[in-house]
Amino acid sequence: MAKPHHWDHLHAAQTAPVNAAYTTTMTLTDKPIPRAAGWHILGAGAMGCLWACAMARQDERQAMGSPQVSLLLRDQEALAGYPGQVICSDMEHPLSIPAVAIAGADDQTPLQIHNLLVTTKAQDTLTAVASVANHLSTTSRIVLLQNGLKIQQQLTRLYGAERVFCVSTSHGAWLKAPFDVVHAGNGDAWLGQLDATGTCSRARLQSLRQLLPAEQLNVHIDHDIGARLWRKLAINCAINALTVIHDCRNGELLQIPEARQSLSRLCDEICKVLQAIPEAPPMGDLWTQVQHVLHVTAANVSSTLQDIRRGRHSEIDHLNGYLCELASAQHMPCPVNRAVLQQMRVLESRAIQAHSPTGSERPRQSSPHRSTDRQ
Ligand SMILES: NC(=O)c1ccc[n+]([C@@H]2O[C@H](COP(=O)([O-])OP(=O)(O)OC[C@H]3O[C@@H](n4cnc5c(N)ncnc54)[C@H](OP(=O)(O)O)[C@@H]3O)[C@@H](O)[C@H]2O)c1
Repeated sequence: MAKPHHWDHLHAAQTAPVNAAYTTTMTLTDKPIPRAAGWHILGAGAMGCLWACAMARQDERQAMGSPQVSLLLRDQEALAGYPGQVICSDMEHPLSIPAVAIAGADDQTPLQIHNLLVTTKAQDTLTAVASVANHLSTTSRIVLLQNGLKIQQQLTRLYGAERVFCVSTSHGAWLKAPFDVVHAGNGDAWLGQLDATGTCSRARLQSLRQLLPAEQLNVHIDHDIGARLWRKLAINCAINALTVIHDCRNGELLQIPEARQSLSRLCDEICKVLQAIPEAPPMGDLWTQVQHVLHVTAANVSSTLQDIRRGRHSEIDHLNGYLCELASAQHMPCPVNRAVLQQMRVLESRAIQAHSPTGSERPRQSSPHRSTDRQ
């Protein structure tokens, strides 16, 4: 296959003249966003490829000419390996999507990012966003799609509540091969802002939703995305690490007596910690919610277990790790979560070593598993 990648694609994606508003000191407002502003996707893994294809397909349908979405790849090596197209199981044909390497972009290209969708894992997100910070303006929007909540809070503080958006999704996707994504579970996506207040935020969310493939990926606006992310965090803290410790699918946690006991103790402790956090919503009966999720996703392999089986770093520091940090900040003990976190760290480092002779190399992606945490 030809490799029509490199800078030309970036320029193709940016042929629309940059709106003067973006070059001034205008702050983010509720003004309509020009369609031509386009998207850059940072993190061309399963979710990044899924969203890129949905965006490119939307552009095709709206006869936008060249795609208004580009992938931001880590470096020139990653760019050299990019075939110029992304395959998605939902679409009959591969979609040509421009790509650009971040490293080295500063000097060689006038890369200007108006709308950034970040689809890296939580633990990679700060570094990834920092690597494109020079290409963001004061009006650029940053949309975060990570599991957890810590990164969303950090970036909202760093870039301002008006510019940072969060997406929580129940879509499931995995990579058959690089840039070849399987949309394994059709779900929904909820778009919101932390600290969202008043009509300004409502208008901002509405106009941003219009730029997203809202129909294709069932994107809804959630004016209380914080509550949704807290609940998902609580459920993931209860389930994910235990699936690694017991090396099992979600549903099996209810059948293994020891796992079931740990689940119930974790739920108790998570509720107690979150009760002490003023921003966290009431959790209600977490144990019942967790059992429901485990029934609905019984056959799923949690994302944390998938990471461990592939010898990759998991998002555990942004799940139980974050919960332990929250407990420490409240001077609360949280022995059950701490024990789980410690076990996870041991299992994670063993898995990484087992997949790499040096124990430090970052294995490249591709997952044989179908399922994800689709709560
Ligand atoms: N997949 C799902 O079904 C699903 C469902 C719900 C939520 N989520 C959440 O969505 C997020 C992304 O998940 P995913 O499954 O799409 O992960 P993934 O397949 O591992 O993709 C992450 C991508 O980010 C890239 N990346 C990391 N650091 C980078 C950097 N500095 N610059 C450029 N690219 C960088 C990785 O490249 P390398 O491979 O080179 O490291 C990888 O391609 C996670 O927080 C996950 O919890 C996923």
